Amino acid sequence: MNNQLKLDPYKQKLAEVYDNTRSQNYDQSKWLFQITHRLVESVEIKPGDKVLDIATGTGHVAIKVAQLVGNSGWVVGVDLSTKMIEQARKKAIALNLKNIEFQLADGENINFPDNSFNLILCANAFPLMIDKEATLRLWSKFLKPGGFIGLHSIAETGFTNIVVLKKILENHRINIDFFQLSNTVNTIEKYENLLRQANLEVIFVKTETHGSYRSLEETKKKWNFVYYPSPVNNPHPFTKLSSEEIEAIKAEFELELEKLATPEGIWNNGTTFLVL
Ligand SMILES: C[S@@+](CC[C@H](N)C(=O)[O-])C[C@H]1O[C@@H](n2cnc3c(N)ncnc32)[C@H](O)[C@@H]1O
Repeated sequence: MNNQLKLDPYKQKLAEVYDNTRSQNYDQSKWLFQITHRLVESVEIKPGDKVLDIATGTGHVAIKVAQLVGNSGWVVGVDLSTKMIEQARKKAIALNLKNIEFQLADGENINFPDNSFNLILCANAFPLMIDKEATLRLWSKFLKPGGFIGLHSIAETGFTNIVVLKKILENHRINIDFFQLSNTVNTIEKYENLLRQANLEVIFVKTETHGSYRSLEETKKKWNFVYYPSPVNNPHPFTKLSSEEIEAIKAEFELELEKLATPEGIWNNGTTFLVL
């Protein structure tokens, strides 16, 4: 139970997932590390810049940026998971970084003085925000004139296990909204429209092809995505099914993955969006 922030049930569950499960193994993924750094590489970061990293997690982006802005710069990382932030803090201390701080906060409800940051970044978490337009409007208030917001998120072809899972659930006419799929922005056009609605200038919205091999066994464990927190699965659609029916759907998921397996494992499509 995350008792330091007042969160709605969806965000409470998100915090619990990242506190209790993901924080323990998040940094084992080399792919996530590389992919978040692509966001940092795609934006211009100058010594002295003040940068906000929303949903900083274990600090992949915030730490890299702190090294680039130098001692005259400042980086703030916010996240709603205490345990993810703990990991980020440990890493910053180990690197002796003095120009970085981490705050426990909900990215949709943060409060900073207007004109505080040159750059606001959010890697791998923007799809989790509920009201995306309001969130972008809020974040843009904290930007200095001429500042930028940079987002990184997975494309609709992304995460092979999600694509397989989605198709199987659709075949069964089961609507499970894991990963906020019903409320996601997963095409270039949708991103451009959203940015304009939020009164932001579009500098670029581009996709990049990424991915890596994951073992069949590891990919099968991603079945758990069906239980990923969502604001709308209330009650979860599986509560209407018997345990036999759930096991049958899971077996179908595993069979589909087995068909995709190669000697190197399963190709996990990690195609992403980079947005400025
Ligand atoms: C997939 S991780 C991404 C972490 C990091 N940005 C990275 O790319 O390595 C998602 C993170 O978003 C955080 N998160 C989700 N919704 C959030 C919100 N509304 N406000 C702040 N953090 C949030 C989670 O706690 C988790 O640490």
